Amino acid sequence: MTKKLWGGRFRKQTDELMESFGTSLPFDWRLYRADIRAGIAHARVLKEGGYLTARERDRIVAALREIEAEIASGKVNSTSGYEDIHSLVLDRLAAKAPELAAKLHAGRSRNDLVVLDTRLYLKEELAEIATLIRGLQGALVGKGEEYLDLVIPGYTHLQPAQPVLAAHHLLAYVEMLARDRGRLAEAGKRMDLLPAGSAALAGSGLKLDQKLLAELLGFGGVAPNSVDNVADRDFVVEVLSGLAICGMHLSRLASELVLWSTAEFRFVELDEGFCTGSSFLPQKKNPDPAELVRGKSGRLYGNLQAVLTVLHGLPLAYNRDLQEDKEPLFDSIDTVKDSLAIMAGVVSTLEFNRTAVARALDRGFLFAPDLAEHLVEQGVPFAEAHRAVGKLAAWAVEGEKEPGEITLAELKKFSPAFRPEARQLLDPAASVRAKKTIGSTNPGMVKRNLAKWKKKLEL
Ligand code: ARG
Repeated sequence: MTKKLWGGRFRKQTDELMESFGTSLPFDWRLYRADIRAGIAHARVLKEGGYLTARERDRIVAALREIEAEIASGKVNSTSGYEDIHSLVLDRLAAKAPELAAKLHAGRSRNDLVVLDTRLYLKEELAEIATLIRGLQGALVGKGEEYLDLVIPGYTHLQPAQPVLAAHHLLAYVEMLARDRGRLAEAGKRMDLLPAGSAALAGSGLKLDQKLLAELLGFGGVAPNSVDNVADRDFVVEVLSGLAICGMHLSRLASELVLWSTAEFRFVELDEGFCTGSSFLPQKKNPDPAELVRGKSGRLYGNLQAVLTVLHGLPLAYNRDLQEDKEPLFDSIDTVKDSLAIMAGVVSTLEFNRTAVARALDRGFLFAPDLAEHLVEQGVPFAEAHRAVGKLAAWAVEGEKEPGEITLAELKKFSPAFRPEARQLLDPAASVRAKKTIGSTNPGMVKRNLAKWKKKLEL
C-alpha cells in the first residue's frame, strides 16, 4: 500500500490497481533534489511568516538534507511505494520528525509544488543541454578547421549542385544548433517565475513571502496568476518543442553521415569506435549511432504530440492528466542529451576521404553557375547566360569532358562573351573563391566564421 498525504476523508483503502496505476514515483523520483530544495526554501519562508521557530526551521532543513542523502545513496528509491516524490519526501520527514512534517506543507499543495519542482529541475537540465549543444558545435567547428581547404560537392535535390567548403557545410549545423540553444534559453527565461504560493489553485491566506522564496530558489519573479500557475504546462511544451526541433537537426546531420559513409559516396570514414558490425555480413561496418539518432527524432516528436494532446481541451485548473507530462518530458531530455553527446563523438572522430570527394567533384559539371555569373559580369543577361551554360554543361557531361580539358575556343562556341579567365573557374577552389555575398562559401568568410565560433564557444 502506498503512503499518502491525504486520507482524512476516506473510509476505504485505495484499490491496489489504482495505486499502481496512479503512482508517479517510478518517474518523478528524479525530481527529488528539486523537491528537497523547494522544501528547504519553503521552511525558511514559513519561519519568516511566523509559522515555524528558527529551531524548527533548522531541524527541517537538516532532516531534508538527510533525506536527500538517503535518496542519493539509493536507500530510498523509486520503488519505495509512495504516490509521488512529494509524498516520499514528506513521509520520510514525518518518520524523522512527525510534528515538523505536519507543519512544512502549510501554504502549498502538490499542485503548485509539482510545477515548482519541474521548473527547478528544468533549469539545471537546460543548462546541461546548452553545454552539450556547445560540445557538438565545438566538434563541428573543430572538424571544419581540420579540413579548412577541403571543397565538397553541395547538393540540391540530392543532385550535385555547387562546390562548397566542407567547413561551410559543417558550419550550417553550428548555426542550427545555435538556434536550438537560443530557443531553449528563451523557454528557460519564460518559465523563470515562481509558481509557489498558488497552493491548490486559488492562492493561500498565509503570510508567505513569495519574493523571498523566488530569491532563495533563483527565480526572476513571482508568476502572476495562481490558476494559470497550477494549470499551465506551456513551459513543458516549449521545452519539448525546442528538443523536437533540435532532434530534427540532429537527424539531418545523422542522415548525411549515413549517406556520406556509404560505399557509393565514401566522403567520410566513421571511426570504428562509433560503428558496429553485422552478425551475418562479416564485411560490414555500420553507422548505427547516426541511424539511432535519426530514428530517435520519432520519439521526440511523439513526446511533444503527447503533451499537447494531454493539454488539449483540459479545463482549468489542475487535473491529474497533467501527471502525464513527465514521462515524455524526461524521455526527450534524456534522448537529446545522449544524442548530442554521441554525435559530438561521431563528428570529432570522422575523417573525410579526399580522393572520393575529388572524384565526386568531377561529376555533374558543378561550375556551371560560376560560368553563368562570369557571363553576367561580361554584360550578358542572366537568362541568356543560363541557357548558354546549360547547353555547355550538357555537351560536357555527354562528352565526358574533364572540366580542366575544356578550351576557350570550346567555351566560345556556347557564348562569344566568354573571356580567357573563365577557364580558371573550372576548379573547385576557384569556384568557392569566386563567391562574394555575405554568408557564402567564400574561404575568407568561412575562416572568419570559424574564428567567430571558436571565440564564442571558447575553444
Ligand atoms: N504526481 C502529480 C503530478 O505529477 C503531483 C500532483 C498531484 N496533485 C494532486 N492533487 N493529486 O501531477
